Amino acid sequence: MSNTCNRIVLITGATSGIGAAAAKRLAQRGHTIYGTGRHVQEGPGSDGVRLVRMDVDDTASVDRGVASILGHAGRIDTVINNAGWGIGGAVEDTSVEEALALFQTNVFGVLRVCRAVLPGMRARGAGAVITVSSLGGLMGLPFQGLYAASKFAVEGLMESLAMEVRGNGIRVTLIEPGDVATGFTSARRMAAGSGEGSAYRAPFLRALRQIESDEGSGVPAGDAARAIVRLVEDPSPPLRTTVGKPDQRLAGILQGLLPDGVFQRILASHYQLDKR
Ligand SMILES: NC(=O)c1ccc[n+]([C@@H]2O[C@H](COP(=O)([O-])OP(=O)(O)OC[C@H]3O[C@@H](n4cnc5c(N)ncnc54)[C@H](OP(=O)(O)O)[C@@H]3O)[C@@H](O)[C@H]2O)c1
Repeated sequence: MSNTCNRIVLITGATSGIGAAAAKRLAQRGHTIYGTGRHVQEGPGSDGVRLVRMDVDDTASVDRGVASILGHAGRIDTVINNAGWGIGGAVEDTSVEEALALFQTNVFGVLRVCRAVLPGMRARGAGAVITVSSLGGLMGLPFQGLYAASKFAVEGLMESLAMEVRGNGIRVTLIEPGDVATGFTSARRMAAGSGEGSAYRAPFLRALRQIESDEGSGVPAGDAARAIVRLVEDPSPPLRTTVGKPDQRLAGILQGLLPDGVFQRILASHYQLDKR
């Protein structure tokens, strides 16, 4: 089915998983889609998506990519900040350098893309910024502390931005997926300190098995893509929306209702932290 209101959309991280599925579905709906990846061959790709090479870790690469889209399409109506990756390991085992590398993509990548597209949106008095956060942006997760921290940062950034640009006709939305079965699991880096010598080795490995199993049985990328399409086509999108299995979406609600200690005990039990 096609959509009557064609939007020009930039989506980062469109080579895999949620980004690839959303790019394809949006193109099928008749929108003009520019999808980015770090190593793509630029130009028309499969599925009707135009490919743009962009490394969100690199300001010059982001600025060049956005300028090339503006030169080609004249405007960007919607940007979808989707590029991201995860790191496994205890907080204590993660170096500042490893954390900085993660934040370069998950946090500063979002900032770079926003800074590049917002001037054009403000000038036209219209636009939408959709950012893929995570359930991990709402609650700390054991052995994914730096990943959760990066998504908490994105939540604060987008909540703030939403208020700053509301007078400019720009809407800001956070999408918070639970587990989605994508290449995210195999792309996860491990903190160098989480190896054999780590004091956390045994609980880390137990939790990692659970994390990987949860992700492997997560919802398909198409579910997240459908939610993104709804947001792109919604003239009045919400600040937040969740996507995922019902129990994981419920966790986001329960976290606000249960005492912290009770909620943390539930999570600790899920990740088998109390076993010897
Ligand atoms: N899968 C889940 O369970 C889950 C749950 C909650 C939230 N999320 C979030 O969903 C988003 C998409 O993840 P996914 O699950 O679809 O993972 P994925 O299949 O690994 O896809 C990640 C995408 O990000 C791109 N990327 C990574 N680093 C980049 C960089 N520096 N510059 C530009 N692009 C970069 C990759 O492109 P190239 O490598 O080709 O450049 C790829 O297209 C991420 O923000 C992730 O945190 C995922």
